[in-house]
Amino acid sequence: MAFVYKGEPRRGALWAGHFARRMPHVPFRIWPDTGDAAAVRFLCAWEPPAQIAETFPQLEVLFSVGAGVDQFDFSALPADLAIVRMVEPGLTACMCEYVSWAVLSLHREMPAYLRQQRRSVWQEHPVRPAGTRRVGVMGMGALGRAALAQLRLLGFDCAGWSRSMHNVPGVRCFAGDAQLDEFLAATDILVCLLPLTPQTRGILSRRVFDALPEGAALVNAARGGHVVEDDLLSALERGRLSAAILDVCEPEPLPQGHAFWDHPRIWLTPHVAASTQAETAIESLLDNLRRHEAGLPLEGAVDRARGY
Ligand code: NAP
Ligand code: GLV
Repeated sequence: MAFVYKGEPRRGALWAGHFARRMPHVPFRIWPDTGDAAAVRFLCAWEPPAQIAETFPQLEVLFSVGAGVDQFDFSALPADLAIVRMVEPGLTACMCEYVSWAVLSLHREMPAYLRQQRRSVWQEHPVRPAGTRRVGVMGMGALGRAALAQLRLLGFDCAGWSRSMHNVPGVRCFAGDAQLDEFLAATDILVCLLPLTPQTRGILSRRVFDALPEGAALVNAARGGHVVEDDLLSALERGRLSAAILDVCEPEPLPQGHAFWDHPRIWLTPHVAASTQAETAIESLLDNLRRHEAGLPLEGAVDRARGY
């Protein structure tokens, strides 16, 4: 039985040490040095090899290096192969930081102040208490729930929207298409933390922007494929949205000359909101392998029918 890691080498070197000390009965290999391919039961990768079934005929679990699994072509993966997304506290903490930074920046009018600074304009805007700012998070999974908890600590009026109904104390919860409009109508800052699936692709569209209060702002820390770019540009143009902070786009990197680059109301970061932290993720990985050995459900197990 062996574990193959296909990803960033520094992380691989650190994990190799942990496996050798703490799970010595599972040899840890770093791609492309896989050893006996027939012995490989576990693969951790962002991009698995194209011919995965032929390459690793006994593979049982494919772990995503990251939280997302939209980079996998499910139809090219053997039907009985378990898929697991990354749920680990280091990545979650990074996302909480990013969302807090973005929401606080919007709440404290930083896009307006930066535009003013470029024109040497000294002009105050009213400071609103956080409790009067309604922040709505789309996606109440591992990341959405943690971000909401952090936003609550900062004092924001928080709401969350998901596929199934959640019950989070202190958070107004909404679920499904039937409650989307009600959620959006009471959201001043919309944060997207949805997985990219056929159902959520293009969800950040005119239909959503027009259901928000006039002048609302957007934070997209999920996937570029969630955004209908022309609809976003039009919503900013029409004043329907006042600002957008985008960590992701499609394709990445954003092509040179793209309208987002120097848009006065868009802030861009190059997909850095959150990444798997080697030191904390190894604990989640080893824990999941122990769960697998014990026949227990794996943390972050993906439901292929739902797409996440
Ligand atoms: P997760 O735990 O799988 O949670 C997904 C959430 O989205 C769940 O609450 C789910 O609803 C909801 N959802 C899914 N489809 C929906 C739909 N059609 N309508 C309404 N709600 C829907 O995922 P996660 O770990 O929180 O990660 C979320 C995403 O963040 C990842 O997939 C990835 O794309 C992105 N991400 C980005 C970065 C970055 O650096 N920018 C880093 C990490 C992750 P239920 O609760 O009802 O199932
Ligand atoms: C990053 O985007 C991830 O999915 O972990």
